[in-house]
Amino acid sequence: MNSLHKILLFLALCIFSAESSDPLGNFCDIEVSKGSKTLLNIDGLLPELVLKTPSTGFVTASKGKGQDRVYGLAQCRGDVSTEECSSCIKDAAKQIRSRCPTEADARIWYDYCFLRYSNKSTFIGEIDTSNGIYYYNVDSVNDPDTFNKQLGALMDRIREDAVEAGNGGLGKGDTQISPFLTLYALVQCTRDLSPIDCAQCVAIAVGNFPNFCENKKGCRVLYSSCYVRYELYPFFFPLGSNNTLVADHTVKIVVSP
Ligand SMILES: *[C@@H]1O[C@H](CO)[C@@H](O)[C@H](O)[C@H]1NC(C)=O
Ligand SMILES: *[C@@H]1O[C@H](CO)[C@@H](O)[C@H](O)[C@H]1NC(C)=O
Repeated sequence: MNSLHKILLFLALCIFSAESSDPLGNFCDIEVSKGSKTLLNIDGLLPELVLKTPSTGFVTASKGKGQDRVYGLAQCRGDVSTEECSSCIKDAAKQIRSRCPTEADARIWYDYCFLRYSNKSTFIGEIDTSNGIYYYNVDSVNDPDTFNKQLGALMDRIREDAVEAGNGGLGKGDTQISPFLTLYALVQCTRDLSPIDCAQCVAIAVGNFPNFCENKKGCRVLYSSCYVRYELYPFFFPLGSNNTLVADHTVKIVVSP
């Protein structure tokens, strides 16, 4: 390889690694008032979240003093690897600042992680389902009665796992709904929630299935306090050896208070 090629390859790699992937959604609120140091503190907070989240998958932190202080929370889905977590939080930190350039309260959702900051500390430990992002598969199931019964039972089961001490707010599982069909589901609460609030967050998400995902083959509910998803294909780790990437057609709905 001649040196020009090497340089071009190097540049291509740089461009590739500098790209960060699009989130499933974001929410920006409360314009920062002029002259405050809030934005500086946010820029100090984000690298700390990026640094500290991957080792345990969850972190809360704060930066600054007095009126300009900001509080952050970052969490990865409990089933993803440290590497996936790290790269997700990096993307989240980068994208949230470009999508919410002047806001003191911001949230960003990915499949593998969630990141949030605010100049109000009270969101930590508090259940919040006020902003919802829903994704549903456009295809409907063939036998809704059986499907919904099995879905309800699976959701009950994994919700119990999510609230159990030591599970870090994660519940996941599958159920065979016919000889050819397996239903996979996962719930993840943020780890600052109490078991009761976690159970409630999941219950609210599941309660909204009929409103946004009725009889659909797949559904994702993204709240600030929990992530709830089901699909008719495996989507969580560890993945089996037979899995292929599924390109399903989904529609997104955003609900803001
Ligand atoms: C958050 O920031 C906004 C805008 O700068 C300000 O009006 C509000 O009082 C701040 N809230 C707290 C709790 O500091
Ligand atoms: C993979 O597919 C084969 C044949 O379709 C099946 O027999 C086997 O049980 C599958 N393995 C897993 C882990 O799903």
